[in-house]
Amino acid sequence: MQKRLVIANWKMYVSTPKEAAQWMSQLGAKGTAAFPGVDVWVAAPYTLIPGLAALKSPMVKVGAQAVSANTGAHTGEVSAAMAKSVGATFTIVGHSERRAQGESDAAVYANLQAALAQKLIPVLCVGESERDPNGAHFEYIENQLTSALRGFNKASKLVIAYEPVWAIGKSAGDAMKPADLQEMHIFIRKTLTAILGRAVADTVSIIYGGSVEAENAASLLEEGGVSGFLVGHASATPNTFIDILSLCKKTLRVKKSKK
Ligand code: 13P
Repeated sequence: MQKRLVIANWKMYVSTPKEAAQWMSQLGAKGTAAFPGVDVWVAAPYTLIPGLAALKSPMVKVGAQAVSANTGAHTGEVSAAMAKSVGATFTIVGHSERRAQGESDAAVYANLQAALAQKLIPVLCVGESERDPNGAHFEYIENQLTSALRGFNKASKLVIAYEPVWAIGKSAGDAMKPADLQEMHIFIRKTLTAILGRAVADTVSIIYGGSVEAENAASLLEEGGVSGFLVGHASATPNTFIDILSLCKKTLRVKKSKK
């Protein structure tokens, strides 16, 4: 059976321990058997990670939205080791909202290495700010991947989240069109193969983020070819997120056993 990966990026939408617990209990009420073949991860604000980890949910892996490669005198930053110490098992790296605050390619590389050193699975975000009629956005994505993944330890796990910046925070109608996603998905897979070699590249999940809602989830999966989603605003309320999980399950192709 194919596998799907759907990551809720709560950003600052789910913001208190009470909201987080309610969210988890609504998802938990569905039961662990509700979404076979769909892995569910939650990228939470740091303040909510310990409480979520303490729930030890069999359905959900808990992670951070960012980690810093710095240690020591860096007021307000949280290192990979600190996130891990309170229960994170993965982290988003290089989200465009952090790059927009000045996170450079060099910092993205260092943060990814810091995550790997702590055995946090990195969910590396790449994405262009605008689509170029001459296709320059492909080169842009290739550069982001090459810069972040140089010297990548091939024994480590990795997820790539393709998130075109122009499609983030809108609604399903403004998201990327499935045919365009298919083209970019193939390009990213090819680029990963060139950087990591085929055997490793084939183990990397490529997911899409940018205005994923129940309305467009099925076509982005089926035509776009991605393995799943990084979901922002539609993950803020459990019901809309659960709708997306249900679509992910429904579109799984189950191999028929030969009789
Ligand atoms: P939206 O789903 O709100 O567009 O956010 C996408 C995103 O940035 C997820 O990381």
